[in-house]
Amino acid sequence: MKVLVLASGGDAPGMNKFIATLYKKYGKSLYACRGFKGLYENEIFPASHFKPLKHENEPGCCIYACRFPEFKEKKYFEVAVQNAKNFDAVVVLGGNGSKRGVRALADNGVRAVFVPGTIDNDVEESATSIGFDTAVTSVVNAVNGLMPSMRSHTRAVIVETMGRNCGEIALAAGKKLGAEVIITQKEQLDEEALASLIKTRYEKNLATLIVIKENICDIAKLATRLAKVVAPAEVKSFVVGHLQRGSQPSAKDLSVAHKFAHGTIKAIGTDALPIAVMLRAGHTILKKI
Ligand code: F6P
Repeated sequence: MKVLVLASGGDAPGMNKFIATLYKKYGKSLYACRGFKGLYENEIFPASHFKPLKHENEPGCCIYACRFPEFKEKKYFEVAVQNAKNFDAVVVLGGNGSKRGVRALADNGVRAVFVPGTIDNDVEESATSIGFDTAVTSVVNAVNGLMPSMRSHTRAVIVETMGRNCGEIALAAGKKLGAEVIITQKEQLDEEALASLIKTRYEKNLATLIVIKENICDIAKLATRLAKVVAPAEVKSFVVGHLQRGSQPSAKDLSVAHKFAHGTIKAIGTDALPIAVMLRAGHTILKKI
């Protein structure tokens, strides 16, 4: 039995727990590579090379993570498929985009397992993904460190979260923080309404928190435009950025990663690959790809 594990796309806190749990099960039979790029280049190593047990509870991804858009191109994809066929199971951690890549591998006869490993939580069929809880907690902690100063000066602040095309981090963190406005889609951005809200709150000596998902607008420019309209109230902007990926995995994410790993082991054991492992109501579900 030879099992390959790789992380496609961004790293996510809890991935190391997932990899270490697979390593405890498969030992010398577990191999790893740097995303789909490593698969294409056939740069594949025994997982022990990356010391998964040493990194078990750390953030990041000890086997390295990688974006490899070329994977969609036939000449790269076909080589990757051939290399993947040297394994009894190829386990891919990633988000919605990677899931499409796994489906393509599966359609070409690769015994693939897809596992939602992304802070974005953009895999619809799964209630959560490895890293999402830590990302939300990182946003909450960062903004909690910001607001006392904003309140002291009765300022408004626009906070940008990650999430790519998915508003889950902004939504979950915004709700936990009691944000006045949460924006997850372009159509929700109403500058006049924001200015009016900031003014009204400023007159009552209240700060304003606006949480917005990335890729909607340039928040520094938005803050400058709003500041001109709401003066003397001031408007700041703050991008939480990669803190969302690099923070210590939360207890919840460690547990989620452990559950996904056991679901993956079960999937490989069923001999019914290709399979996507999803988490619903606290339990893993194995879905045929
Ligand atoms: O997919 C995870 C993610 O963190 C997204 O939320 C974000 O858009 C992207 O990766 C950032 O990627 P990079 O680290 O390559 O800039």
